[in-house]
Amino acid sequence: MTTVLDVQNVESFYGAVMALRGVSIQVPEGQIVTILGANGAGKTTLMKTVSGVIYPEKGHITFAGDRIDGKDPEKIASSGLAHVPEGREVFPFLTVEENLRLGAYSRKGAADIEDDLDMVYSYFPILRERRKQASGTMSGGQQQMLAIGRGLMARPKLMLLDEPSLGLSPLLTQEIFGIISRLNHEQKVTMLLVEQNANIALHTAHYGYVLELGRIVMAGDSEKLLNSADIQEFYLGQQGESQRGQKRWKKRKTWR
Ligand SMILES: Nc1ncnc2c1ncn2[C@@H]1O[C@H](COP(=O)(O)OP(=O)(O)OP(=O)(O)O)[C@@H](O)[C@H]1O
Ligand SMILES: [Mg+2]
Repeated sequence: MTTVLDVQNVESFYGAVMALRGVSIQVPEGQIVTILGANGAGKTTLMKTVSGVIYPEKGHITFAGDRIDGKDPEKIASSGLAHVPEGREVFPFLTVEENLRLGAYSRKGAADIEDDLDMVYSYFPILRERRKQASGTMSGGQQQMLAIGRGLMARPKLMLLDEPSLGLSPLLTQEIFGIISRLNHEQKVTMLLVEQNANIALHTAHYGYVLELGRIVMAGDSEKLLNSADIQEFYLGQQGESQRGQKRWKKRKTWR
C-alpha cells in the first residue's frame, strides 16, 4: 500500500510551549485515518503542522513522495493537500458557489471544474439549492458541508478534516460522517480525520491513533481500538471501574 503521508518524530511549539512531542503517523492511500484525543491534546496542531501553517522544529513530513516540512501552506496545498480547518472558515461574504470555485484555485489547470461542482452538489444537494446564498448566512451544518465541498474541489490526494462534527446535532453528525464514508469509498478520497467523537470516528476510519499531551500513546486498526479496554473507558464512555475514566467521560460526552 502506498503511503500518502508520513510524519516522523515531529515536534511543534507555540513559543516555549511544546505542543507535539515527537509524533509519528502514516496515512495509506485510499484510507481514512483518525486522530483521537482530548481537548488540548495537540490534534489541531498536528493538522496545522502537516498543512504548513505551523513549521515543525524537528522531524520530517513526506507527502506524496516529497518532503513538505518547512514549505509554505500554499505550496503544500497545490501539491494536493486540502485542509478543512476546525471551525470551517468559509468566506462569509462570498456565495456558496464562489467558495466552492475557490477550492479549485490551487489546482493545476481549470479543466473539469464544472464536473467537480456537479460531483460536490450530488453529495451535498443543499449546496446546489443554496448556491447563490452568502455563505455566512448558512447554518453551521451547511457551512461544514461547504467546507468539505470546497476541499473536494481541489481534487486532493489527501484531505485533512478537523472536527467536522463541532457544534452539530447528533443527527447531522451522522449524516456528514455517512457522506465522508461515501466519499472515501466512491471517490477514493484519502483522509486524515480529527474527531472528539471516538465512536463515530472509529466506525468511519480504517485506522486510528490516540494523541495525549502531544504524544501518540496508542495506535491500531479501528476495530482493535473499538475493542480496547482503555479506549472504551476513556473515549467511548463505557462504564469501567476507574473514577478517572468517569470524570474524563463527563467532559467529553458527545455521541452515543
Ligand atoms: N496559538 C497558540 N498559542 C499558544 N498555545 C497554543 C496555541 N494553539 C494551541 N495551543 C496549545 O497547544 C496545545 C494543543 O492545542 P490543540 O489546539 O492542538 O489541541 P486539540 O487537540 O486540537 O484540542 P481541541 O480538541 O480542543 O480542538 C494546547 O495546550 C493549547 O493550549
Ligand atoms: Mg482542535
